[in-house]
Amino acid sequence: MAKSNNDARLDFNVASAAAEIDTSKKVRVGIIGTGWIAGPHVEIYKNMPDVEIVAGADLVPGKAESFFKGYGLENVKCYGSHKEMLDDDSLKLDAVSVCTYNATHAECAIYALDKGINVLLEKPMCVTLEEAIEIRKAEKRSGKVLSIGFQPRFDPNMQMVKSVVQSGVLGKIYYIQTGGGRRRGIPTPFGTSFIAKETGGIGALGDIGCYSLDMLLNAIGYPKPLTVTGYTSAYFGTDPNYCSYVQQGHPEYAAAFGVDDFAAGFVRLEGDIIVDFRISWAMNMDTPGDALILGTKGGLRIPSTDCWNGTIGGPLKIYSEVGGEQVCTEIPMKESNVNCFEVKIRSFVDAVKYGGAAPVPSSEIIYNQAILSGIKKSADLGKEIEIEIPEI
Ligand SMILES: NC(=O)c1ccc[n+]([C@@H]2O[C@H](COP(=O)([O-])OP(=O)(O)OC[C@H]3O[C@@H](n4cnc5c(N)ncnc54)[C@H](O)[C@@H]3O)[C@@H](O)[C@H]2O)c1
Repeated sequence: MAKSNNDARLDFNVASAAAEIDTSKKVRVGIIGTGWIAGPHVEIYKNMPDVEIVAGADLVPGKAESFFKGYGLENVKCYGSHKEMLDDDSLKLDAVSVCTYNATHAECAIYALDKGINVLLEKPMCVTLEEAIEIRKAEKRSGKVLSIGFQPRFDPNMQMVKSVVQSGVLGKIYYIQTGGGRRRGIPTPFGTSFIAKETGGIGALGDIGCYSLDMLLNAIGYPKPLTVTGYTSAYFGTDPNYCSYVQQGHPEYAAAFGVDDFAAGFVRLEGDIIVDFRISWAMNMDTPGDALILGTKGGLRIPSTDCWNGTIGGPLKIYSEVGGEQVCTEIPMKESNVNCFEVKIRSFVDAVKYGGAAPVPSSEIIYNQAILSGIKKSADLGKEIEIEIPEI
């Protein structure tokens, strides 16, 4: 059977840096939600000599128990919900990974922060801007570390995008085009948690759209979004004849589909910058295009990429004018063996241990969430909306 291009199972080859790590105090970690992404979290925590996985929770009876058993972790205390686990003060948890489906990100993160526990929250931050605001308030009340799980940021080629922009070589940035997606890639192999409204909340928009936005917004310094015009559709996911090796013969996926499989948006950012965005789980096209950044002195092309694991589709190209000539400079791709997932978790644990800043701060990702939920809201209303984010 062909592998779906959203089959993100990775070979996590975690190098233990035990020699450099202070193991005198172990960081006590709990896992909330023991589905697919909890696997990579546990693989990585398990290999950290200064971390102890002490507890886990899942709403599905017995799921957490068999999950940890599968990783050879026999002494992890298991619970039937995030509340049950977080209410057990005897666990003395320092940190949790929130690995639940999108719709419960906010309640789990807020409950943990209010218990004084540091949180690594999987992407997207949540479903709505209102939830993101409440998460930020809880973070502020608690004074704890909240980091959001955007691993591509730790890839050297992704970091090059930011370095190019920050070098000033592009001049004043006024337009960015970003997005991406798949021709046939609705993530149904893993069940319905991504496609049902009650669990996913938003579809391609939140699942992969958040990465494409982060790639460029992080590069340009996360200006505040002001207005959004959005569009969403779901022509493929709701079609029982959707042509995917998974969905064919599984009409229950079409019946369960309650989110977007395509979304587009036009976003006005502070500083007179326009974002032109589109994302897809399924469409009749190979790619919706490369990512572009247009500046007054140069333009940057980032070849079409899936984003989620930090890869870029080829060398970056800068288009500019030198001595009256139009030139194109290609930036060689960096060879890298960086495991972005490992760095995302290691940097979170270090922030918890040493009181550092969140590696991927919610003060930035709230703008990402504002755009995602703005696109959804604008699409539902059929008109442009203004984005209002209170001071937190
Ligand atoms: N960073 C990445 O590369 C990456 C990759 C895949 C998924 N994700 C994100 O991770 C999240 C989970 O994805 P998944 O594929 O693991 O989903 P999943 O459906 O396989 O697992 C989610 C689990 O959370 C449990 N759960 C939900 N609410 C809970 C609660 N209140 N208390 C305890 N358990 C609860 C569910 O029962 C389920 O077992 C999603 O938000 C997704 O976007 C990130």
